[in-house]
This record gives sequence, structure tokens and C-alpha cells, in this order.
Amino acid sequence: MGSAEIAFRLVSFARSLLRVKPAEQLTDDGAHTQLRRTLGLVPLVALSVGATLGTGIFVVLAEAAPAAGPAVIVSFVLAGLAALCSALSYAELAGSVPVSGSAYSYAYATLGELVAWICGWCLLLEYGVSVAAVAVGWGGYLNEFLRGTVGVTIPDALAAPPGEGGVVNIPAALVVLLAMSVLLMNVKESGRVTTVTTVLKLAVLVFFVAVAITAFNSENMTPFAPAGIAGISAGASAVFFSFIGFDAASTAGEEARNPKRDLPRAIMLSLAIVTLVYVLVAFAAVGAVGTEVLGGSDASLATALQVVTGQGWPSVVLALGAVIAIASVVLTVLYGQTRILVSMSRDGLMPPVLAKVNRRAVPARNTLLVGIAVAVLAAVVPLNQLAEATSIGTLVAFGLVNIGVLILRRTKPDLDRSFRTPLMPFTPVLGLLLCAYLILGLDWVTWVTFGIWTVVGLGVYFGYGRRKSRLNGT
Ligand code: ALA
Repeated sequence: MGSAEIAFRLVSFARSLLRVKPAEQLTDDGAHTQLRRTLGLVPLVALSVGATLGTGIFVVLAEAAPAAGPAVIVSFVLAGLAALCSALSYAELAGSVPVSGSAYSYAYATLGELVAWICGWCLLLEYGVSVAAVAVGWGGYLNEFLRGTVGVTIPDALAAPPGEGGVVNIPAALVVLLAMSVLLMNVKESGRVTTVTTVLKLAVLVFFVAVAITAFNSENMTPFAPAGIAGISAGASAVFFSFIGFDAASTAGEEARNPKRDLPRAIMLSLAIVTLVYVLVAFAAVGAVGTEVLGGSDASLATALQVVTGQGWPSVVLALGAVIAIASVVLTVLYGQTRILVSMSRDGLMPPVLAKVNRRAVPARNTLLVGIAVAVLAAVVPLNQLAEATSIGTLVAFGLVNIGVLILRRTKPDLDRSFRTPLMPFTPVLGLLLCAYLILGLDWVTWVTFGIWTVVGLGVYFGYGRRKSRLNGT
């Protein structure tokens, strides 16, 4: 091979990594979707809020509180700000590239195939691994509910992973398999279930705030930030997990009735609702019992109600609500995961079987595969490791979304956008910086895990996706 040929091959290799899927083609794919367009604004908001309010506020708040102190409220605001900037970018992209697949599709239209692949690979962490994390939190509240009603709890050996005093976390695995079965039934049914459980979950949290605030004691708020800025930052990285999922509506782009109008609205509305709820719940919880009491329980909000009222029933009501509510997160996030795989598979980057839908319009084999894999993770890995892995994957994907907005404005200034991010380029740049800041606050073990995950992902891409991509030959 002559040097001219080597140079030619190198250039075409580099070009193949940077090939972008034309935004018009993405939209076109959506128009010929095999999935049904049934979702209006309300179910889309319910989908996003449903995917967001869960283990983060019910469990992770309490884990972050002792480190940050009452300033954990500020941590929530910081994490929310990172989510807000990224949400604005998400909303713009969702309004210009309205298909399933979320950040992955957006990156494909803007940053090229390789980055899109990395993004999709990160979303497997955001969605797949977070389902496992959320399921573990569910087990804590199930036990609290059982203790408050029938007076027994599932022993640690069967309700905690190895390394946390258990052998296998059966409740966590079970709730994942249950959600998988509901999804296999079909989208419409799942959508209705999601709307009902989302309303219930909001009601339970409002109930919590209403009761806890009656015991507000300003002494619990001092010292406000015992570990200073470092504590607040670590808290923000930890509670960022609780914001994950607000973009879930974007994974249903192809099932939205009017995606260009409703997706941006659904994303922004969902984020506004959850941020308000988080700040209120954190304020009420810390004000009522202080950060130490919160940190000492697996079902912290239920424990807080027990302490505040001195009675059992309010915490049983809360635990029951949490059990139903958190199960709905498992359901909606699992749904998002299957739809991302549909997109990646349809683009040829994953095996075609993952995009195949059955007579009920459900990607059944994909759903089975994801459900079983996630159930295994939930059974054997501890919550904090799952939550951090989820956060790092999401933060990288959000960082890429922010970059995507900047690039698409330059490369496609005339694209029809139903929503435009305000204060360009300040908002996406701030979003990017905040994502980087939160990544720095995570444990180094999480970075190493993520590094290994990325290397495996690149192996799959170069071994399979690059050769099978539908953009080959275009
Ligand atoms: N935001 C989701 C939760 O907190 C992942 O459960």
C-alpha cells in the first residue's frame, strides 16, 4: 500500500466517525415509526415527573444530608441548576429532532456517529443502571411498610446486596421484573399507569411536607453548612441523581402526538415541578428532624414522620406511597431505556432484534433483555455505587447535549426550532461547566468504572456498530 493510499484510508476512517445523521432524516424516521402516537402533553409531563421523583428524594436526600448539613438544600439548587441549563438545551434539541432516543439522536444529528454512540452508551447508564438504583431504594420503603403494618421485615440476607450485609436483594430484582411485565403489555396501558402513580407520588410528598413543616425547628438548620463549600459540592454531586429522568419525555418522541410543541414544554414543566418539590421536601425534612436522624434510616422520610408525629400511621401511608411511587420510576425509566435501544438498533449500531416490535407495538425482546439485565444488577450491587454510575453517565450525556446545541445553531441555523434556548451561548456553556463540576465531585471509583465502561463501549462500536451503521455507503 502506498503512502497516498494509507493517507486516503485514514481520512475516510476519520470521516466515518464524524458522519452525522441528517436532522431531516431523523425526523423522517420518526414519521414512519412503527410505534403509535398516543401521548399528549399531560402524559408526557407525567412520564418525565414519574421518571424523576423517586429514590433520589426518598433515599439519596438522607444519604447526602449528613455531609452537606442543612445546606443540602443549596446542593439541590446547584444540581437543579445543572439540570436546568441542560434541560433548556434538551428542550431545544427535542423541538428540532423529535424522535425517540433522547440525547443519543440529538448527538447523531450534530456531533457525529462516534459521539452519538458514546452518548447512547452513557444513556445505558442513565436509564438502565438508574432503574437498578431506584429499585434498591424501593426495597427500603417496602421493608418500612411491612414493619409498620404486619410487624415483620425481610431479613438483610435477602434484602441487601453482598458488601452491605446481604446475599441478594430480592425485592429490588422483583420490582424490576414486575415493571418489565407491565411494559410488555403495551404503551397505552403503561402510560395510564404512569399518570396515576405520578399524581399519587406528588400527593404523598405534599402530605409529607404538610406534616413535617408543623414540627419545623430552626435549631435543626444550624450550623447551616458544617463542611463548607466542599460539603455542599459533594452533596450536589450526590443529589444530582434525583433530577435524572426529567428528560424521559424525549425518549417518547415517536409516541408523542405533537412532539415539536409538546416535548420542550413537557421537559421544562417537569423540571420546574420536581425542583419545587425537592426544595420543599428537603427544607421540611431537615427542619423537622435534622440531618443526623435522616441519615440513619433506609426509609428516611417515613422515619421522619414517625419522629414528628409519634404515631405509626403517617409513616405507613408515606411508605405505601413511596412503594407505589418508586415502582413507577422503575417502570418509566425502563420504558425510556427500551426506546433508546430501539433508536440505536434502527440506526444499525445495535443488533436489529432490539428494534423489532410485536403485534402490540412493543419492542418485546429488547424489553425482556433489558429487564433481566437490570434485575440482576439491582440484586447484587449497592445503591450508592449504582447511583454514582448513573450520575456520571447522565452528566456526560448532558454535557454532550449542551455541546450539541452550540454546534447545531452554527451548522443548521435555519432548522425549524419550536423552542430556542435563551441567553445563547451562556446557558449551554454554563450547563457544560456545571456538569463537569458535578462529575469532579463523584468518587474516583466511579470515574474508573466509567472509564472501563467507555472502553467496552468503544470496543462494541468498532467491532460492530461502525461496520453495520445504516449510514455506511451514504
Ligand atoms: N431521579 C430518579 C430517582 O430519584 C432516578 O429515583
